[in-house]
Parts: sequence; structure tokens; C-alpha cells
Amino acid sequence: MDFSTPELDKLAANVIPGDYFQLSAEDARDRYFADTRMLDGKQLAHNRFRTNPRSMVDHLLGQLALSGDEHLLDLGCGNGFVLEQLRPHLADGRIVGLDIAPGVLAAARQRMTGVATPCEWIEGSADDLGMLADESFDRITAIYMMHYVPDIDACLREAARVLRSGGRFILTTDRPDSMVEMFDVHFTAMKRMKAPPHLFKASPKARISLTNGQEQLAAHFGEVEMHTWQDQLRFAAVQPFLDFYAAHNYCCAASQPGDGLEPGFFTELRERVGDHVQHVIDQHGYFAVTKFTGSFVCGEPLR
Ligand SMILES: C[S@@+](CC[C@H](N)C(=O)[O-])C[C@H]1O[C@@H](n2cnc3c(N)ncnc32)[C@H](O)[C@@H]1O
Repeated sequence: MDFSTPELDKLAANVIPGDYFQLSAEDARDRYFADTRMLDGKQLAHNRFRTNPRSMVDHLLGQLALSGDEHLLDLGCGNGFVLEQLRPHLADGRIVGLDIAPGVLAAARQRMTGVATPCEWIEGSADDLGMLADESFDRITAIYMMHYVPDIDACLREAARVLRSGGRFILTTDRPDSMVEMFDVHFTAMKRMKAPPHLFKASPKARISLTNGQEQLAAHFGEVEMHTWQDQLRFAAVQPFLDFYAAHNYCCAASQPGDGLEPGFFTELRERVGDHVQHVIDQHGYFAVTKFTGSFVCGEPLR
């Protein structure tokens, strides 16, 4: 599926800032992933409103090439949404889920209660895997999480250390211009509100994206292959879009008035974004959000 058009490219060149937000580990743990609400909302929307019949997990399964008895480590496992779907493909294997946020980790544990595949849950930051033995996993996944990790290079080094020879490390991320239509309405509304300049930054995913990830990974893996796919979310009602928009960290709707903004700022921002999106829905039947996403599949860990 190819959703790219010259118009979208042009929009991205005008809309996506070069500078990006960076979240602290404390923000990730205590604010955005303190409970599962933000994550549940995003996962639901990505699945419910997609037009690509192949889901992210379908793509992932192709890249994991599981035979059923592998030991899998999932870094930033969140609420276990992905692990639940991988688990039937690991009937004779073993799963370790690691996450910095105890709230979402508890949800993952609960979700997997009673499954016969042995599961272990570790609370910690993915850049310190000191509790795990060298060469102890056949597969390691890092799904839309690496941009939160304080020390990305240390995390990749650790992943290479705990991966067995012949194993695969899979890192999933986006292109910086992914979901440009959402960022366009967001930045347009903020410009009209004369928002302060520090809010005009790209998503933290730009720290390790499909554009700059190859180089970072090649320092730790002899083999790095990029696999991309596209999708387009189509929202035919404004409220589900606004819920999705609000779940984006540091996309302003999820920030807090404590950031030096008037308390009414976010209400007005949401209203302006909602009005714009409603207008597009009235004209075209839906509001499209185009995703440029993919994975790096890495082997031959360098130690
Ligand atoms: C966008 S969610 C992705 C969750 C899951 N991988 C998925 O795709 O559904 C990012 C996850 O990374 C976790 N996270 C953030 N910083 C982390 C860190 N330093 N180490 C481990 N996990 C972290 C968050 O708590 C959150 O669960």
C-alpha cells in the first residue's frame, strides 16, 4: 500500500519541525505510562481506524520468523497488547517483558495470567539489562519505545549482549513525517493561538527514526535491514480522532498547563483542532492520518 503523494511530502516539509521533544524517564514512568489509559487509547485507534488489512503485529510476526520455542525479550512491553498476540506463536518458548512503568507492567502481567508459556516481568529501564545473562534470548523486540530510553546507545549495546548468535533484534519506529496531517492541524491551531515557540517541536520518535536509526544500530549489529510499511487511519467522527490526538505525548494536547500556559490553553487547542477536523470530515467523509512506519531487523550482534 502506498499512500505517499507529492502533496503529503510538501506538507511534511512545511510542517514537521527539525527540533524534537525529549521526554525524561520520570515523565514516561510517572506521567504518560503511570496507567494504561494513554496506551490503550492509541492501540485501539491504530487498530480500529486502519486501512491496511495487515496490522503492526502481522508485520512483526513476519519479521520475527518464530518457530515456537524461542526465548523472547520485549523491551518497553507496556500493557502486553503485543505480547498477547505473539504468545500463541511461542507455545513452547519463554517470554520476558520489561518496562519502566509499574502501572502498565501490572496490566501486562494480568493480561497474561494463566497462559502456559512461561512469562516473567521486570520493572526497569531498557538501557540497563544487568539482570539478564549474556546471549540469553533468541528474539528481542523494542516496539515504538526506544525514543523514550534515556541512553539509546547503552540500550542497543545491552540488547546485542543478551541476544544469542543467530538471534534477531527488532526495533519498530516511524519516519519523522508519519501522521503529518495530525501535526498539521495541531501546529496550525497553535500558530493561530500564538503559542510559545518551545511548543513547535517534532515527536520524540525523531531521536531514533526510520531516517536515522540505521547508523545507530550499525554500531551494535553486523546486519541491519529496514522493512517499511504504510497505513492510513481514517476517522469519520471527530471524537475518536480527538481521543487519539490527546494520547500523543508532548503533542500539546497531552501536555499540562504547568508548562507555563494558561489553564484554558488546551481546551481552546482541542476545540480548534476539533473544528478543523470536523470541517474536513464534512467535506471528504473522513479525516486521514497517514502512517509511514517500519522496523529494523538486526542480527550478528557485535560484542
Ligand atoms: C508507546 S509505548 C509501547 C508499548 C508496547 N511496546 C506497544 O507497542 O504496545 C512505550 C512503552 O515504553 C515504556 N518505556 C518508556 N521508557 C522506558 C525505558 N527507559 N525502559 C523501558 N521501558 C520504557 C513505557 O512505559 C511504555 O510502556
